[in-house]
Amino acid sequence: MALVIRLCVIVPTLLGAAAGAGAQRSPAVAPDVARLLQQIKASDTDLLAVSEEDGRFLRVMILSSGARRALEIGGGNGYSAIWIGLGLRQTGGRLTSIEYDPARAKAAAENIRRAGLADVVTVVAGDAFREIPGLSGDFDFVFLDAWKRDYKRFFDIVLPRLTSRGLFLAHNVVNKRSEMPDFLEAVQNSDSVLTSIVTPSGEGISVSVKIR
Ligand SMILES: C[S@@+](CC[C@H](N)C(=O)[O-])C[C@H]1O[C@@H](n2cnc3c(N)ncnc32)[C@H](O)[C@@H]1O
Repeated sequence: MALVIRLCVIVPTLLGAAAGAGAQRSPAVAPDVARLLQQIKASDTDLLAVSEEDGRFLRVMILSSGARRALEIGGGNGYSAIWIGLGLRQTGGRLTSIEYDPARAKAAAENIRRAGLADVVTVVAGDAFREIPGLSGDFDFVFLDAWKRDYKRFFDIVLPRLTSRGLFLAHNVVNKRSEMPDFLEAVQNSDSVLTSIVTPSGEGISVSVKIR
């Protein structure tokens, strides 16, 4: 009896650990898109892309919030934009992803096209500080993954354009927290947002919801 009880405890624990540690075979990602995501990761020698688990978390946040007007600051080669785009495909939303480096912006647009998300995600090549003021409307979901020293300035620029209950997510708030003390102070003490820091992987994502 004791053995049976112990197995009941251990087996689900092991299964849970395995699911969290490795790639999930989710029917919600078509095999060709899953292969593309793996290829982007394999060629990401600068290690810019978010982890697979963080990518999945972005999609979950889009779906669960029903977001439809999304902005990404720091699009890289399009890995995170594909995860966000997969969520927006289901909510009927759109993403504008801004990437400073022209070669990366070009690669991102191509990767997004290959993922079948060209009608959902628009890549804008340019400096987000210059491009955001030219974008129309407000955002109900913002994902910030540019250079860490700029996080506070981007938060200040975007907050007035975030809808009530809109989400502002920022990447690397755990493993690179020493590079953004002003941002972390702002999102954790602001009267305008309520913030929780989560760690789908070790990099850390701040999730701030606009409350006023
Ligand atoms: C960590 S990478 C983004 C990775 C991407 N989010 C992903 O997971 O696939 C950061 C990117 O931000 C871009 N970047 C930095 N400052 C920027 C700015 N002011 N405007 C637009 N892009 C910027 C860099 O060129 C770099 O490609």
